[in-house]
Amino acid sequence: MRVLIVGSGGREHALAWKIRQSPLVKEIFCAPGNGGTAIIAENVPIKETDIQALADFAVSRKIDLTIVGPETPLVAGITDVFEEKGLKIFGPSRKAAEIEGSKIFAKQFMVRHRIPTARFQIADTPEIAMKIIRSGEFLFPMVIKADGLAGGKGAIICNNLKKAEETVHNLMVKKQFGPAGERIIIEEYLRGHEASFIVISDGTKALPLVTTKDHKPVFDGDRGPNTGGMGAISPSPHINKEEFVKIMETIILPTITRLLEERRKFVGVLYAGLMMTDEGPKVLEFNCRFGDPETQPQMLRLESDLVEIILNALEGNVLMREVNWSTKPAACVVVTSGGYPLKYETGKKISGLDKAESIPGVIIFHAGTKIEDGNFVTSGGRVLGVCASEKNLEKTMEKIYGAISVINFEGMHFRRDIGCEK
Ligand code: AMP
Ligand code: GLY
Repeated sequence: MRVLIVGSGGREHALAWKIRQSPLVKEIFCAPGNGGTAIIAENVPIKETDIQALADFAVSRKIDLTIVGPETPLVAGITDVFEEKGLKIFGPSRKAAEIEGSKIFAKQFMVRHRIPTARFQIADTPEIAMKIIRSGEFLFPMVIKADGLAGGKGAIICNNLKKAEETVHNLMVKKQFGPAGERIIIEEYLRGHEASFIVISDGTKALPLVTTKDHKPVFDGDRGPNTGGMGAISPSPHINKEEFVKIMETIILPTITRLLEERRKFVGVLYAGLMMTDEGPKVLEFNCRFGDPETQPQMLRLESDLVEIILNALEGNVLMREVNWSTKPAACVVVTSGGYPLKYETGKKISGLDKAESIPGVIIFHAGTKIEDGNFVTSGGRVLGVCASEKNLEKTMEKIYGAISVINFEGMHFRRDIGCEK
């Protein structure tokens, strides 16, 4: 088979790495890919948002299966365009992807179907927003969210009235995230532990992947602004067997069933960002795709053939084969450009990669890298995902941090406390 992977992050490198191990696959293309995917696949210089060019490429190069990493092309309808042309693609349709594309749709859907989530109100003008904020219905801290896609930066936790006013102004008046902030959600702040619960859905059934915990804030101790994710460990330390079943029964399966009933059949990866509260698991958000960095430790633990699983899901039979996972934990620490998620510089030469990768058991996935004059240089905020899977989490983290200690580039930053919490 010839497989096309759409995207350019650590997630896509991890998918390409795993798919390369499949006996079903002969050739892999990544559009646009990164410095790491260039080594194990063929990078194609087409942007992930250029759906027409991607479809033309898939037709002309006789691609048998396309797998979409990021949300933007899914929300824009890449699956519908490919399917119209008779191309096989793994990812939800535009209508199903709205579960991530519109937070208001997702919240109203959850209320309609009694799927546990934080209490909320919707505002479509700054005046209404301020009225809700001042009404006392939500105590501080409260969470204000842009309705549309905002690159993971659209949820703002407000500790006081001043911050809430400023946030409403930034989203609705200054339009910090463009049309994504035309309508906003004001919601109750949930306390507990976060977990990422990710499944592959065939439209009616779900295959849960091993659980993970992401680390969103940029600095140690969960300080600083939220990022796309600074590291992930698998399994999540906060989901026991009982909670796992509860999440499947109260969140995942009802979501898939109700989406089908609402003519939004969801075939693809459904990612529930959860808060494990004293009242049980509640949904913070849904994503319509694999997580990043969550996919990186997950692919290290997956022993079965990912391509076979995906083909079964597309046939409507995702549970056809038993899926095997390593019982060993796995983790990923993300190495970023200094300044990320705010302003940062790129074009910095990365040294020590060969040495780090020669440590047995260390796997490095690239994100914001490219090859220039035979060297890897930085080209984005999140640069590398340094991963390992050892017999316990302590050994896993030791191996990862040992590998990071030999990598260097100007301004390099990473969290030193991934996998440390008790
Ligand atoms: P979201 O984009 O909705 O996942 O939000 C991004 C991050 O903001 C989450 O991973 C949480 O850390 C935080 N967050 C979002 N909603 C809430 C909430 N209702 N209560 C507490 N934290 C939240
Ligand atoms: N790591 C968070 C996400 O993939 O959305």
